[in-house]
Amino acid sequence: MNDKIIITGICGSLREGSYTRMALNIALMGAKDAGAKINLIDLRKYDLPLMDGRRDEETFPEDVFRLRDEVQKSDGIILGTPEYHGGYSGVLKNALDLMGFDEFQGKMIGLLGVAGGSMGAANSLNSLQTVGRNLRAWVVPFQVSIASAFEEFDKEGNLKNRVLEQRVKQLGEKVTRFAYLHKIGKSEEFLNAWQVAPVNPGGERRSKEGK
Ligand SMILES: Cc1cc2nc3c(=O)[nH]c(=O)nc-3n(C[C@H](O)[C@H](O)[C@H](O)COP(=O)(O)O)c2cc1C
Repeated sequence: MNDKIIITGICGSLREGSYTRMALNIALMGAKDAGAKINLIDLRKYDLPLMDGRRDEETFPEDVFRLRDEVQKSDGIILGTPEYHGGYSGVLKNALDLMGFDEFQGKMIGLLGVAGGSMGAANSLNSLQTVGRNLRAWVVPFQVSIASAFEEFDKEGNLKNRVLEQRVKQLGEKVTRFAYLHKIGKSEEFLNAWQVAPVNPGGERRSKEGK
């Protein structure tokens, strides 16, 4: 396979000095180390309207199509969000609502949540799993929540805790590897095996044993 895997991070915080953006950059470094071409979507640089469900989509500003195009070209997407009132940010939701199946179907999604509180961003991550499935994407079975974020980063945007840093990098690496497996068709092999597998293999065995 000659094509590089493209992994794009979307940052759900617009804040100057955002910890979510810092964490996403680290996750993208993990993706780069795994061989991916990386791209960070900083939504401060996009002029996006609120999604209003309009049908005449050609009236959307150019940046909506720029956003869609960048995500469409990606093999995997890492969604980074701050925890806001027990959920993920409205900024991220609006960006996702301006996109859809064309951008996400069949893609790998990695989830990264950042919270000010000690409970972390588990609520955001749980909600985003549901959103990912509704976009018909594959949400990878590894996610990262950073609690008490204001204590975790140095001024240069590095994580002070090496174990946590490795975990964030692993997120990027895993999204890249799953995207690679998907791209080379291994997921089709799995799905074909799934199609021909017995409907209730455990049940069959039990009934034979019961005879
Ligand atoms: C509107 C708002 C709601 C927040 N709600 C929560 C919350 O429910 N739980 C929590 O742990 N932190 C909460 N925080 C703190 C943020 O998660 C924290 O400041 C985080 O670092 C923001 O991400 P950022 O640094 O990428 O901007 C909230 C912050 C804001 C602005």
